[in-house]
Amino acid sequence: MSALTDKRIVLGISGGIAAYKSADLVRRLRERGADVRVVMTRGAQEFIRPLTFQALSGNPVHSDLLDPAAEAAMGHIELARWAGLILIAPASAQLLGKLAAGLADDLLTTLCLASQAPLAVAPAMNQVMWHHDATTANVDRLRSRATHIWGPAAGSQACGEIGPGRMLEPDELVRRVERLFGNRQLLASRRVVVTAGPTREALDPVRYISNRSSGKMGFALAAAAQRAGAEVTLIAGPVALATPTGVKRIDVTNALEMRDAAEEAADACDIFIAAAAVADFRPAQVAEQKIKKSDSRDEDRLTLVKNPDIVAAIAARRKLRPFTVGFAAETEKLLEHARGKLQRKGLDLIVANDVSAADGGFDSDRNSVTVIDANGCETLPSALKTELADRLITVIASRAVQE
Ligand code: CTP
Repeated sequence: MSALTDKRIVLGISGGIAAYKSADLVRRLRERGADVRVVMTRGAQEFIRPLTFQALSGNPVHSDLLDPAAEAAMGHIELARWAGLILIAPASAQLLGKLAAGLADDLLTTLCLASQAPLAVAPAMNQVMWHHDATTANVDRLRSRATHIWGPAAGSQACGEIGPGRMLEPDELVRRVERLFGNRQLLASRRVVVTAGPTREALDPVRYISNRSSGKMGFALAAAAQRAGAEVTLIAGPVALATPTGVKRIDVTNALEMRDAAEEAADACDIFIAAAAVADFRPAQVAEQKIKKSDSRDEDRLTLVKNPDIVAAIAARRKLRPFTVGFAAETEKLLEHARGKLQRKGLDLIVANDVSAADGGFDSDRNSVTVIDANGCETLPSALKTELADRLITVIASRAVQE
């Protein structure tokens, strides 16, 4: 049985020359057993006729939001509920902009808003448009909402230019669809807790000690675990990130609050992933009022006390102990330090991350990591944090879930 047998895919097609490749995409998806419903924008119909897709998909093509005949057969809300995946290929710059802004002025964009299915887009456009700040901002926004951005590939373009902007080839898109559906089963009915972001340790009502963690990796992991079918609780320090779809979020500020939330959530979880950059120390005293310069000496000392090690305490549990995963953010001797932490904290697995690398680390959208456990280590190549998160969840699931 193929990974796509009976999978319900809404294939959205927007206006672009790459729309002709989508005909082949429909054929390949159907060959693997998927049930495909095609939705075309008005622009798409300028490039290729709906009849082609009707014949290839074996289903009527949907295009109008307000077409009474189509609504009577399968209304847009039914279609939105029916979808197991919405894949938009090609996704034009215009369509990405509309999705990012949450507009719903035609059938395809309305479906995207009305559906809880995962959304994947395969951008296709002129390379200057792809590089434009507006497109970059739209893509970032979509990514933060756990939209899969597949491609674009680089190469010679229909407009005669060379660069990134070509839609991924249909066989590559099919592979990604298969991977996405395959991943969905990995953590079905498992409960996963992820800590993410920094903690803030107050000095007084207006000042605090913190660190540069953006929370992106932890949020991407929470989204990936949710996509893999898990019930996910995300315990987040102060970060400016949107909650991934379908994830339960608990906001905390400091390490003690994070510890309390983590201990409680860990009682009912199968996998605990500590991606947070917890402050190791907190000020011994928090001043009730703002500390005044005039009350301080020229040279003053700050007394700090150690925060509890959240992940180590959970790994040390005798009862209700989940599979426990830690992170090691290092600037030197990556593997040596990470192995030390794996042992010292009693973890099942540690994800070692070189935060001094140019491509990766704290604020970056990309990362490259090495996964270490008692059996050895595996390096995952540099990728967008969202893609890396899917791979990490696959590795974690393969070790944690033994059936
Ligand atoms: N961690 C935690 N609670 C803490 C400190 C860290 O749960 N109080 C977790 C982090 O979420 C991460 C792992 O422990 O998964 C590694 O954290 P790190 O700060 O890098 O390790 P330390 O033990 O603090 O080592 P060092 O400061 O020497 O690098």
